[in-house]
Amino acid sequence: MPKLVKWGILGCGGIAEKFARELHSVPGCQLAAVASRSQGKADDFAARHKAQQAYGSYAQAVQDPRVTIFYVASPHSAHYDNVKLCLENGKAVLCEKPITLNAAQASRLAILAKNKGLFLMEGMWTRFLPSMIKLRALLKEKLIGPPLSFSACFGVKFNTGPSHRIFNLALGGGALLDLGIYPVSIASMLFGKQPQEIQAVAQMGPTGVDINDSLSFLYDRGETASLHTSVIAQNCNQGVLAGEKGTIKIRPPMHHTKKLIVTLGDDQPILLDCDYQGHGFNYEIQHVCDCLHAGKIQSDIMPLDESIAIMQTMDTIRQQWGLRYPGE
Ligand SMILES: NC(=O)c1ccc[n+]([C@@H]2O[C@H](COP(=O)([O-])OP(=O)(O)OC[C@H]3O[C@@H](n4cnc5c(N)ncnc54)[C@H](OP(=O)(O)O)[C@@H]3O)[C@@H](O)[C@H]2O)c1
Repeated sequence: MPKLVKWGILGCGGIAEKFARELHSVPGCQLAAVASRSQGKADDFAARHKAQQAYGSYAQAVQDPRVTIFYVASPHSAHYDNVKLCLENGKAVLCEKPITLNAAQASRLAILAKNKGLFLMEGMWTRFLPSMIKLRALLKEKLIGPPLSFSACFGVKFNTGPSHRIFNLALGGGALLDLGIYPVSIASMLFGKQPQEIQAVAQMGPTGVDINDSLSFLYDRGETASLHTSVIAQNCNQGVLAGEKGTIKIRPPMHHTKKLIVTLGDDQPILLDCDYQGHGFNYEIQHVCDCLHAGKIQSDIMPLDESIAIMQTMDTIRQQWGLRYPGE
């Protein structure tokens, strides 16, 4: 029987709630500690999710000898410092997406993790779902031939005030880093590389972050991707991958779909059911546990080189808009 994996959580916000709930469904996982910037919030969170220890400080939590790995669930602007804090204190890390604000920060963390011999992965949870596993298998068997074009959109209308992290420049807000990263990351997974040319336009909102983006990618062999993301408009949230022999539709909600539709030539479309239970974090959590048990310091499915490359793509896009975060 594999050793117990003892988890800690930094940041008791919205996504941490969902993660903590799901953690208990993965055999061999224990929630050893949770940390908030406020002791009261940590205590409440710990009580709700049966965590063994609650800390009112991240710096204290990372010294807890019981914890093997921290899940970093803070806003984008805090990822770099929080992950560094964990690694410097000998803890492995699963960090929410995007791994950092930019590629330079991600590269520094990758070097630190390697030097410390510690596991680090970006929490691109959707990669571990049955639909994405199936998609990778279909590509491997060249069912539709090499992918030639990918169109995808992911938009959510946020009815929140301007200080919410989505619109907050100081917290690394904006559509690209929050939602756009999903189609950008899926494109990276499908083509297995980053675009050579990028043309990106965006509507900038009153708080100075991108709120409605359109991205056009050209790859080295002429493949293209056309991606759209928005935090002011709900949109179709689906994707279509086309190859010489046919198409694969990724049905809504694209980033955690349960349905793929394959159409080969003029044949009838085939529906592939890729159902799963719960929120879906359990697949990512299980993968991280498997990596830890195998003594790996990186995931083969979401490797750090790819996370860095995706950040480089998003850096290029932001450069075209002149969008910089404080401190960059
Ligand atoms: N995988 C997914 O499906 C998914 C969905 C939503 C969000 N996310 C990602 O998860 C991360 C957190 O998003 P969220 O929606 O959970 O955000 P949230 O509800 O605002 O929670 C973030 C938490 O981070 C902590 N924090 C640390 N430094 C902070 C600062 N300077 N300002 C504000 N809060 C700070 C706070 O916890 P304490 O007060 O307890 O310290 C806060 O509650 C982001 O990286 C986001 O992209 C992923």
